Amino acid sequence: MRTKLSSSLFPYLIFISLISLYIYSSLLSPSPSPPSNTTAASPPPCNLFKGHWLPDLTESHKPLYNETCPFHRNSWNCLRNKRDNMGLINSWQWVPQDCGLPRMDPVKFMGLIRNKNIGFVGDSLNENFLTSFLCILRVADTSAKKWKKRGAWRGAYFPRFNVTVAYHRAVLLARYEWQPKQSVPVDKDGLKGIYRVDVDIPADDWVNIANFYDALVFNTGHWWGYDKFPKETPLVFHRAGEPIVPHLEMLDGLKIVLENMVSYIQSEFPSKTIKFWRLQSPRHFYGGDWNQNGSCLFDEPLKEDQLDLWFDPSNNGVNKEARQVNRLIEDVLQGTDIRLLDLTHLSEFRADAHPAIWLGKKVAVAVWGQDCMHWCLPGVPDTWVDILAELIRHRLETG
Ligand SMILES: *[C@@H]1O[C@H](CO)[C@@H](O)[C@H](O)[C@H]1NC(C)=O
Ligand SMILES: *[C@@H]1O[C@H](CO)[C@@H](O)[C@H](O)[C@H]1NC(C)=O
Ligand SMILES: *[C@@H]1O[C@H](CO)[C@@H](O)[C@H](O)[C@H]1NC(C)=O
Ligand SMILES: *[C@@H]1O[C@H](CO)[C@@H](O)[C@H](O)[C@H]1NC(C)=O
Repeated sequence: MRTKLSSSLFPYLIFISLISLYIYSSLLSPSPSPPSNTTAASPPPCNLFKGHWLPDLTESHKPLYNETCPFHRNSWNCLRNKRDNMGLINSWQWVPQDCGLPRMDPVKFMGLIRNKNIGFVGDSLNENFLTSFLCILRVADTSAKKWKKRGAWRGAYFPRFNVTVAYHRAVLLARYEWQPKQSVPVDKDGLKGIYRVDVDIPADDWVNIANFYDALVFNTGHWWGYDKFPKETPLVFHRAGEPIVPHLEMLDGLKIVLENMVSYIQSEFPSKTIKFWRLQSPRHFYGGDWNQNGSCLFDEPLKEDQLDLWFDPSNNGVNKEARQVNRLIEDVLQGTDIRLLDLTHLSEFRADAHPAIWLGKKVAVAVWGQDCMHWCLPGVPDTWVDILAELIRHRLETG
């Protein structure tokens, strides 16, 4: 019995010793590729989300595109709309606390992502992000063509590098649909109908992309408010086809949708897909919300010690939802392979960089108020692109 046991253990022990030997020796030997000289290649990025905006008037910091980029959306094309301060807005450079953040080099980056595809899924702030990305990448390939397949809202194909970059519009991520009053069982006072949200079903716009993109940036955020869905036309959450009872308030509904969408992503998307979740883009309405003449006519970024007053939920300001929503997202993403793209803090400073009253059409301001939510392009999202490119580069180079 004894000999039999030890003889069956023997190969096993050898195996263990070999493994230990291997681990030991690999610890002793120099790390796999001591970069002889790979300049920017692969120092692991420091925390790129913490830092400061500093004035920088050097040529190397100039925007990489202008109002002629064919991928602009009119109301964010602040150069064409002759927004004041565009030079000033683009004179600030985001400098992370412990390292440099290079301006993305479109040709190098495209070389790196040759034959790959990058997707954005979420609301118009992700479209804002995409627009900046497309205009920057186009510098490397002016033959870029508009691309709109697989449910994409818009995007571009870059033939020189065989790269596709596109945006899938899914503002709540989950499927939702308008149901007018007659088909609503309970007819409360003032109720015009409901928006039915199926918390466990992703919107059609992004169900066909699981194997198409190599990197993805998800977001959802500013649609989760009572301004978009007031009590006359509320969100009503459903699971497995049935209304969830008791009825969920907005942020409880958001949490359940996040949990379901994240578990869908974890089960349906390959683990090799690089996944990011972009945290909230803060709004800067001052003196009232968007529908109460709120404005953002600032000439320079906020100071660090002003940020809490504007954004800390305990101060109950009109822009408090960004940090509230972030907390929920951070909770739900724990333990997943989806990385946080925490662009909130750096963007909180930039009260000066929204389209404000320069929307291209005079009536727009009268109808919609100032836009203190989206960003001028070129502008702050170009820095988002620098950071995203840096993180993707790092992932691709280190595997
Ligand atoms: C590394 O490259 C930089 C610029 O590409 C050069 O200035 C530097 O001398 C190089 N260092 C070494 C050790 O080769
Ligand atoms: C805009 O950029 C394009 C291409 O980079 C350039 O040819 C053009 O002269 C620029 N236009 C203006 C108005 O700066
Ligand atoms: C283009 O990239 C796709 C992957 O996105 C790949 O399947 C295809 O073979 C590539 N085409 C060429 C011509 O390299
Ligand atoms: C917004 O401003 C307009 C014009 O000054 C004024 O008529 C309106 O009452 C204001 N609305 C709010 C909600 O303050």
